Amino acid sequence: MKILITGGLGYIGSHTVIECINSKHTVVIVDNLYNSSIKVLEKLNKFLNKDLKFYKTDMQDIDAFEKVFKENNIDAVIHFAGYKAVGESVEKPLKYYDNNIGITINLLKLMERYNVKKIIFSSSATVYKESKILPLTENMPLGVTNPYGRTKLIIEEILQDIAYVDKNFKAVILRYFNPIGAHPCGLFGEENNGIPNNLMPYIVKVAKGELEYLRVFGNDYNTKDGTGVRDYIHVVDLAKAHIKAIKAFEFSKNINIYNIGTGTGYSVLEIIHNFEKATGIKIPYKIVERRSGDIGENYSNSDKAKKELNFSTKYGILDMCHDAWNFEKGK
Ligand code: NAD
Ligand code: UD1
Repeated sequence: MKILITGGLGYIGSHTVIECINSKHTVVIVDNLYNSSIKVLEKLNKFLNKDLKFYKTDMQDIDAFEKVFKENNIDAVIHFAGYKAVGESVEKPLKYYDNNIGITINLLKLMERYNVKKIIFSSSATVYKESKILPLTENMPLGVTNPYGRTKLIIEEILQDIAYVDKNFKAVILRYFNPIGAHPCGLFGEENNGIPNNLMPYIVKVAKGELEYLRVFGNDYNTKDGTGVRDYIHVVDLAKAHIKAIKAFEFSKNINIYNIGTGTGYSVLEIIHNFEKATGIKIPYKIVERRSGDIGENYSNSDKAKKELNFSTKYGILDMCHDAWNFEKGK
């Protein structure tokens, strides 16, 4: 298939480009380099021994974006492009609605114009309402607490509305849990400019000596050791889920929603210990106040993806820690 990958030079997008090529698909990448760099394209070309088709295009500019559809016979779209910083979305909600929803509407208009009927959308576990009942299954109540999460929920609903009227339209919505790690080759990973917000990007900076210590946000949650528990998934396993989802277009219903996680929750302290074990580097930390907006615990039930997509994960928590560090130290 010829697959348009929006945001294809970003963290998850670049890993998915590799898996698409490994699975003999052809890719066309669109990215405006807002949170990525042209160096990622150069590395992909070298690593894959290809000359990948790339458009440096801001998808907010629908006329420029249309060129991509005009010049390529696209069969399906994997839509990663968007902004993802939760804290910033609270400060600048319009920026998030404008970009995340605006570019998705432009994409869907062009898909309609060029008769492209298949899309995989990057949603997030953040769309679930906080739940005492775990693990989370796809039919559990939804509810969001910040504009970033709201853009994901709104886009899920837009896709449902289109599927309702167009019976040939097929959308696979993947709700990612917490992607971490990097490609085992050490060339691709999460590029971080500035001080990171998320746990693993912060830990690797502490390991590198660029930050003094990790702040553990609260140890008084109702969890195994009081610190926050999340379902971390290796980014390569996550990328492979998209290949399974492409196959699902052949047999699936109009709209399919899948959790993509491992189903296992790790606490912050467990992540620190596993990182130390995987790398031999000590991570100094201090327990501080809870981070506003955080929940204690969440992890997935990913059985639906296992059963219907034949999805499984290969990498464990030590691999995730090892590969995250392997990428960071090579930067
Ligand atoms: P990323 O920031 O690394 O990648 C997104 C890419 O989209 C970037 O390369 C950026 O330059 C590009 N982009 C943004 N706005 C654009 C525009 N207007 N036109 C063209 N390109 C644009 O993020 P990621 O971690 O790879 O995440 C990919 C998707 O998965 C995002 O939609 C994100 O919300 C979602 N997601 C990510 C996580 C996570 O923890 N990383 C978790 C759940 C969901
Ligand atoms: C964050 C986002 C969420 C997004 C997800 C995946 C917030 C409030 N939520 O969730 O919307 O879908 O990333 O991108 O930003 N932690 C520390 N110290 C740190 C950083 C994190 O103790 O310096 C803890 C957190 O309290 C949490 C765990 O580590 O318990 C994981 O945090 P993080 O990596 O930010 O992911 P989420 O909180 O799941």
